Amino acid sequence: MDSASFLARLASVLDERGLLTAPDEMAPFLVDWRRMFRGEALAVARPRTVQEVSAVMAACAQAGVRVVPQGGNTSLAGGSVPNGASAQIVLSLSRLNAIRSVDRVGMLIEVEAGCVLQTAQEAALAAGRLLPVSLGAEGTAQVGGIVSTNAGGINVLRYGMTRQLVLGLEVVLADGTIVNGMRHLRKDNAGYDWKQLFIGSEGTLGIVTAVVLRLVPAPRHRVTALMAVPGPQAALALLSRVQDEIGDQVSAFELISAYSFDLLARHCDLRAPVSEAPWFVLMQADSSLEGITDKMEEVLAAALEAEEATDGVVATSEAQARQLWNLREHITEAEAREGEGVKHDVSAPIADMPAFLEAAEAAVMAAHPGARANMFGHLGDGNIHFNIVVPKGADKAGVNRTVHDVVARFGGSISAEHGIGCYRVPELLHYKPQAELDLMRRIKAALDPDGRLNPGKVLG
Ligand code: FAD
Ligand code: MLT
Ligand code: ZN
Repeated sequence: MDSASFLARLASVLDERGLLTAPDEMAPFLVDWRRMFRGEALAVARPRTVQEVSAVMAACAQAGVRVVPQGGNTSLAGGSVPNGASAQIVLSLSRLNAIRSVDRVGMLIEVEAGCVLQTAQEAALAAGRLLPVSLGAEGTAQVGGIVSTNAGGINVLRYGMTRQLVLGLEVVLADGTIVNGMRHLRKDNAGYDWKQLFIGSEGTLGIVTAVVLRLVPAPRHRVTALMAVPGPQAALALLSRVQDEIGDQVSAFELISAYSFDLLARHCDLRAPVSEAPWFVLMQADSSLEGITDKMEEVLAAALEAEEATDGVVATSEAQARQLWNLREHITEAEAREGEGVKHDVSAPIADMPAFLEAAEAAVMAAHPGARANMFGHLGDGNIHFNIVVPKGADKAGVNRTVHDVVARFGGSISAEHGIGCYRVPELLHYKPQAELDLMRRIKAALDPDGRLNPGKVLG
């Protein structure tokens, strides 16, 4: 089928706003958030219903055209844009965005893939419930993208990754088949739990069109604190103390380096309201019961006494807490404004994080003079964004290998939460054991035998 007939076929299954082919209209869909990856597409399809998604997929299957699913396009791994290798379309889920229902008693939300995460959070909150996936891109990222990357964020410590919240899923397969698994069940052992294959598969196995997500009671009391700490080892001691005393209520425990604050001051005019230190911890605890603030203050006073922290501020209002989180949420943007960055989204066993950070920083400094590590992230989950700001013309692949070799030595992962996309394909192929890669290829071949879903991503 020639491309004109193919586009006419697509147009016939979509409404008048459903197909973009003009270069200026397609442009924002063809470049990633970091502006590192750019591709070409025959068209951008924007279906409004699952039936339209199915019809688009069937048309692509018939014409042999490849499909790049896209949500909010906030991927930090170059997963959501075409790779320019063959005839491809972008399938944007943005218009398939209804909140179908919020069940206060059953504590779940049924939502379509294109719904912006923040919109879903607000709908849950209006019903007195919390959708506990929270990350800096939540005003743009969509539920389908969150599920397809198995996103992490700041609340994993207490509520787990997105995977732990998915109760039901609706997907469209490469040939257009609709599979409806939108169950509202907490317990369901009837056969294979196939939805797990699609969660975190980055659009390489199927199109997520709707999701049932588990909610939790919205906490009535919240305490947020920013602590200055002497180093990662002291931060871990503080984490243990907090876990011992109020572990069931701690929802976030983030480590931030002084260099991250330097970037925030220079590029976003944002400053830490505590005295200078080499490292900082931003933490939050939530509870339905009163008294969490007093308890946190008591625990932090003991931490200061034990020299696990050197200074600190506990937010006394919602607005002050927001300001503290605003600092954390702007680090990615500040780093992007600084210039060339080489991102590493790595994990290691929690207890090994201080040794890992020391070893990785030393290795990078020795091998790549002029590089600087912007270290911040989810210490409570053993996941740090070990992002290296490098001088122009630096050997970025070499920087990746230096960091990832240290990750491998510590038994860690080269992607804790952002996924592989196209950015980390060579690294996945280098570090993942052969038997695991073979198993992944068998799964891919079973669900996408013609290799038409998100070409060039994850397995390459
Ligand atoms: P996209 O970027 O559009 O797509 C991501 C991947 O999923 C692509 O491979 C795409 O093909 C696929 N995909 C998207 N929608 C579908 C669908 N409906 N069906 C099948 N495949 C689909 N991530 C974290 O885990 N934790 C963080 O703390 C975090 N913070 C971030 C902060 C900022 C400022 C930014 C820009 C990004 C951050 N991210 C974080 C990265 C990113 O993974 C998340 O923002 C989010 O998971 C991506 O959602 P999205 O809708 O933008 O997906
Ligand atoms: C975050 O936690 O803010 C993002 O996942 C990190 C990043 O920009 O690397
Ligand atoms: Zn993160």
